[in-house]
Amino acid sequence: MDPTLIILGDAPAQDLDLVRTTAAEFGMQTKTHAALQPLSIMPGEGPPAGCLSFVSCTRQALLDLFGVMPIGLGQEIPLFQRIDTQEYPGFLADMPVAGCFRSPLSAFECRNIMLAIVRNGSLRQQKRELVGEIKKYRKQKHQLITIGTALSHQNDLGTLLALILAESRDVVSADAGSIYIREKTSPGGAFTNRIRFKISQNDSVDIGRTSREFSVPIDETSVAGFVALHGKPLNIEDVFTLSDTLPYKKSRKEYEDRFEYRVKSMLTVPLTNLSGEVAGVLQLMNKKSDPNSRLHTREDAEACVVPFTLSDEDFVLSIASQAAVSIERVQLYQEIKDIFEGYLRSSIAAIDERDRVTYGHSRRVMGYAMAFADAINREDGGPFAPLHFSEDRKNRFRFAALLHDIGKIGVPEALLAKERRLSEDAMAVIRARAEYIKAVMPRGASAGPFTWNSSADIDADVAFLETVNKAGSIPDETFSRLQAVRGKTYPDSAGTRQPFVTDLEFENLSVRKGNLTQKERERVNSHAQATRRILSRIPWTRELELIPEIASHHHERLDGSGYPDGLTEHQLSFESKALAVLDIYEALVAQDRPYKPKMPPRKAIEILRAEAAAHHLDSAIVEFFVSSGTYRIFLDEQASDGPTPQ
Ligand SMILES: [Fe+2]
Ligand SMILES: [Fe+2]
Repeated sequence: MDPTLIILGDAPAQDLDLVRTTAAEFGMQTKTHAALQPLSIMPGEGPPAGCLSFVSCTRQALLDLFGVMPIGLGQEIPLFQRIDTQEYPGFLADMPVAGCFRSPLSAFECRNIMLAIVRNGSLRQQKRELVGEIKKYRKQKHQLITIGTALSHQNDLGTLLALILAESRDVVSADAGSIYIREKTSPGGAFTNRIRFKISQNDSVDIGRTSREFSVPIDETSVAGFVALHGKPLNIEDVFTLSDTLPYKKSRKEYEDRFEYRVKSMLTVPLTNLSGEVAGVLQLMNKKSDPNSRLHTREDAEACVVPFTLSDEDFVLSIASQAAVSIERVQLYQEIKDIFEGYLRSSIAAIDERDRVTYGHSRRVMGYAMAFADAINREDGGPFAPLHFSEDRKNRFRFAALLHDIGKIGVPEALLAKERRLSEDAMAVIRARAEYIKAVMPRGASAGPFTWNSSADIDADVAFLETVNKAGSIPDETFSRLQAVRGKTYPDSAGTRQPFVTDLEFENLSVRKGNLTQKERERVNSHAQATRRILSRIPWTRELELIPEIASHHHERLDGSGYPDGLTEHQLSFESKALAVLDIYEALVAQDRPYKPKMPPRKAIEILRAEAAAHHLDSAIVEFFVSSGTYRIFLDEQASDGPTPQ
């Protein structure tokens, strides 16, 4: 619409005609307006370009005039004032007046005024554009800073890629986009010559179900491969008008076929790392003239999609360089985590190798821990509904579960694998001693240094000791007989009276429950303390620093009867209390431990409940472990005749 020249006040007919004619020559329409009436632009009228005022040139009249005129008139929009004197009125110097004229206007003067108005209009237009550009760059600068900050805080690759893609699309109003990441020979290894499609976003089409990973070679047969190969951006106005001679033309419909989506404009930039290597490719599709529009049909795409501009290209390249650095950082972080976890797993495997009896125990306790945390996160009622295991918390719990018995590395193998009260070698010594006694004992002797009536008596004692050695627990009467056998003696070759059962043998055989003596038990229990010592030496990150505490308290009991610190209910973390339950359950249902048979889950749960009733274990945790079905996760593995014991 043509701009409007406003003629204010009563212009003489001659001036009015001249102004109208000249304005038309300069592409302006005119509008007359009575002075001191509020000015408004009516439909069909263009924006005001300038003003010729014919009101009487007195200070007061002009003050009144500017009082009712819209802001801008006289400031942004030049106002020329008619004067009736020969002299230039001094007060005009303080007024927003662009110039003066006398009536009647000459054609020359009139053209000069129009020229000034038109020039002012074009200067204003330039100013508007510059201000627009400055605003745009300011916004982009702000966005770059925001994006940079966001990227540097993200440690999860999937979330990071989604963030990079969403921000890039937002900045240039791209309807869709994808990111490809360059594949490596191994985690931490060298780059290969393929890029992997990792993530795609689309405002118009639901691509969730079709968005699976695939890889393409770094060569000229695809747009992404082409950009990765040459390390330079590719800005395509319309992929359908690409020349047949271009090598990637064939692949132009890749995205369209995959997602049933018309791709028109496409901006593809390399993600180049600090070493100058291409670490991935960012591809943006369909820049929209209206960011809020949706491209559901081919016609929508034709109507709303515009080419990406050079400034889009610059801006996306700025994001891309930050993105490449962030992606490498996150990949490195992940690789370090993987290496660290691999190292921890191999440490645990080394302990398992020493102790075949509990092989796989730590791995399975970790499995229970993760299933338990997931069950807690699914819970929307009950005592644990307010609890939530974040990724960091889960990781902490996972490592604590995996490493809880790492202190066993300092416990002698003979104790970890001790299957009887006395070893086979020690029993062989007793048998040999019995044979010696039988050989040297005179027939019929019933007195003197010998305390047996016959060889058969000696055999019966040996058989008794064999039974005691294998028993799970020793009742009182067995213990009494053991004491009686301990009192029996024989003379050695020098005639000195010797005990049939030595003090050390008695100490081992007389263990009422299990097969470890008090000292041996303490030695094995010291593994909890050792777990803390070993884990405390690892420089954990802040999210993981509680691992030594959680792991080393897996033998603590709510009533303070546990070890190593004798902590009570309120001093123990939720994770330590849960770990205690998972550890006991795993040990109970583990297959074929030599000192006890494998226990069915039902019986193991009974024991857990009894331990909870005795205020050793947390009953809410025990019940949740059962009701959530966490206890069942290894049932198949336990039922099968796997190659490893436990
Ligand atoms: Fe333990
Ligand atoms: Fe354990």
